Amino acid sequence: MTKGLAGIVAGETKISATTGGRLTFAGYTIEQLNAMDLSFEAIVYLLWHLRLPSESDLNRFCQILSEQMFLPEHYVRILTEMIRPGEQHPMSLLRSGMSLLGTLMNDQAQHPIAIMAKVPLVIGTIIRLQNGLEPLQAKPELSYPANLYYLSTGKVPDAETEEVFTQTLILHVDHEFNASTFTARVIASTNSDYFSSLTGAIGALKGPLHGGANERVYQMLQTIVENQLDPEKFVANELSEGRKVMGFGHRVYKDGDPREKILKKYAKSLAIKTHQEVWFDTAETVEKYMWAEKHIIPNVDFYSATIYHCMGFAGRDFTLLFAASRSAGWLAHIAEQYSQHTLIRPNSKYVGPYHADIAGDVVNS
Ligand code: ACO
Repeated sequence: MTKGLAGIVAGETKISATTGGRLTFAGYTIEQLNAMDLSFEAIVYLLWHLRLPSESDLNRFCQILSEQMFLPEHYVRILTEMIRPGEQHPMSLLRSGMSLLGTLMNDQAQHPIAIMAKVPLVIGTIIRLQNGLEPLQAKPELSYPANLYYLSTGKVPDAETEEVFTQTLILHVDHEFNASTFTARVIASTNSDYFSSLTGAIGALKGPLHGGANERVYQMLQTIVENQLDPEKFVANELSEGRKVMGFGHRVYKDGDPREKILKKYAKSLAIKTHQEVWFDTAETVEKYMWAEKHIIPNVDFYSATIYHCMGFAGRDFTLLFAASRSAGWLAHIAEQYSQHTLIRPNSKYVGPYHADIAGDVVNS
């Protein structure tokens, strides 16, 4: 038995892999895909169909996504009644918001592409209502990432921002059997519906040891930058107090997270563009210190925090952006799990005491 299922192969997938420290989507490395400069929608198509789309496949896919970018009647009204600006965690609202969507979309409408199309609207609506702003309608002429940005900020991104945002979302889209995806698969393995799986996955992603780490990275960098603290002393103190430094360490990657290398490049260019070099420099100092002192690598959540901050998103909303992208991966895994017709139900090792007579029954049975 291993702690936290570390190293255990818990099932088969054709969607993504982390073999040999390289991340692949349907057999393509993320570096290959990054060089191809594909759209987010093309990567979603790849995960769902296990092949890159032709031009006409992609056009059709984007057209359906765009046609489905609306929310059911009453949805925004119910969400408006639920939200008390600033009081609830945005990921708790997304968890409830996803579940609510499932109760308002009829069974025939519960198709992955229709669900995916609604995710930027749900997230944008949560962000805007939490800031006391009116929710917006999607713009059909915009890409999925540009719509997510627009629906959240009220601004259409410029070309460079859209490019970096697209690539950042692509790097978050899937990661084999990570905690939230595994949660989604466990729920799907009982033949439960898409929304139950997605709601569970959002709950798992929210945790600070998983997707919630990007918000904590923001809080750490903000504390250091705003109080003009020495980053090395700050981190040394965290470690000496026995606290984990958020955005560092990974269950699978021990020598380097391939996503982080690409994200670091984008974080630097955005920090320069938005005159926030201090954020990038602070992050890089923390990275060097963590390697020198602990030999621990930054993960996907580390430099993405600088990227989202430089794009103007609030720290508390960072995990929503992760979820906007990872939803596509979750949907791919849920469909794959349905196709495998296998209930995920492992055993546990009982380590508590037995009463003598019951233990006797167990031993004799
Ligand atoms: N800061 C300080 N020390 C760390 C960190 C960290 N971020 N991560 C691991 N370590 C240390 C542990 O304290 C432990 O030390 P020990 O052997 O002296 O007790 C050792 O490295 C191994 O750590 P584990 O937590 O056992 O490693 P595991 O593979 O179980 O955990 C995890 C991986 C959960 C990601 C861990 O590194 C962590 O908590 N990181 C911080 C949270 C974070 O950034 N999560 C995002 C991960 S990426 C994602 O989910 C999208």
